Amino acid sequence: QELDLKLEMLEKGGYDHFMLKEIYEQSRSIRDCLRGRIYPEKGKVQLGGIKEYADKLKNVDRIIIVACGTSWHAGLVGEYLIEEYARVSVEVEYASEFRYRNPIISERDIVIAISQSGETADTMAALELAKEKGATIFGICNVVGASIPRITHAGVYTHAGPEIGVASTKAFTAQVTVLTLIGFYIAQLRGTLTKSKLIAYLTELDQIPELVEQTLKCNEEVKKIAAAFKDASNCLFLGRGSSFPVALEGALKLKEISYIHAEGYPAAEMKHGPIALIDAELPVVFIATKNSSYEKVISNIQEVKARGGRVLAIVTEGDTEVRNMADYSIEIPATDDAFVPLLATIPLQLLSYHIAVMRNCNVDQPRNLAKSVTVE
Ligand code: G6P
Repeated sequence: QELDLKLEMLEKGGYDHFMLKEIYEQSRSIRDCLRGRIYPEKGKVQLGGIKEYADKLKNVDRIIIVACGTSWHAGLVGEYLIEEYARVSVEVEYASEFRYRNPIISERDIVIAISQSGETADTMAALELAKEKGATIFGICNVVGASIPRITHAGVYTHAGPEIGVASTKAFTAQVTVLTLIGFYIAQLRGTLTKSKLIAYLTELDQIPELVEQTLKCNEEVKKIAAAFKDASNCLFLGRGSSFPVALEGALKLKEISYIHAEGYPAAEMKHGPIALIDAELPVVFIATKNSSYEKVISNIQEVKARGGRVLAIVTEGDTEVRNMADYSIEIPATDDAFVPLLATIPLQLLSYHIAVMRNCNVDQPRNLAKSVTVE
């Protein structure tokens, strides 16, 4: 038994849980995901797995993304990125809904399934349906050789390495990284970004593993905040633009592993319902980085503060405005809007982790959840 314990410690690389190990691996996993795929000085993205479909991607009118759980959140981030940079319309669907809806799909569509395991039953079925209707189907998967990569026409692996914790962390950031690459790849094919813009974006993207490393330094501070929030029974996560799916993912992570009821909302929708929940007990987590919706998020924070809410804000390094307004704040390094989701996710992962540990929850194997859901 002692040997088993020692083996387990070894597998966890000295961390208390696989989840924490995997959170800390993200600088490396994103680097692995980018390797051989970006050439910043040339402003070039190369995706070997889908290059045969370059013509199709160049002329596509619509991309449909199907996924479940955390992978679906990555899809939502992808929607913002692909629409913004490649100017292609993207729809993101829950695989379980899509497959039973008699969806409108044609040979002109590209359907992309996102799945860490590559085995999720609903995602598989949604893809099979799209394939039957003549669409071109791609996969963004982590597990090499899994069922989804085997049935797709083409795909891009995330290369995050094995993910053991049931709650997805490094697989999510790798999925977002792949979607970012796909966005820039299509932009390159269609000419929706100039060469100099592509050079600038890819140069910054190349720095992201470094910035992830810096972001992880917030761990001790997040732990202190977790102690203040650990007894909450509800929690609200708010963000705008591509930080909205980050808010959804923050809420999902918290409920999955700490069993605290949490909801993610687009910050501006708060006034249409969740605002009624705000009192001194409810922690409200804002992703309030300096980007195009910064001013708007500030007014949302003021609305929460005016009602006595407790605010934790994820802010850009050096920000004082939000810092002074919020009860707690965590800084992340400044980066382009395109890459904020990759950084802003990290303190939220750590927050759920520490809260769950403080509540004595089984972080790596939360109750009732499975790593891979192979039944519908
Ligand atoms: C389960 C896991 C989640 C995961 C979802 C989709 O619910 O617990 O972490 O996001 O399945 O899994 P997939 O392997 O398709 O990404």
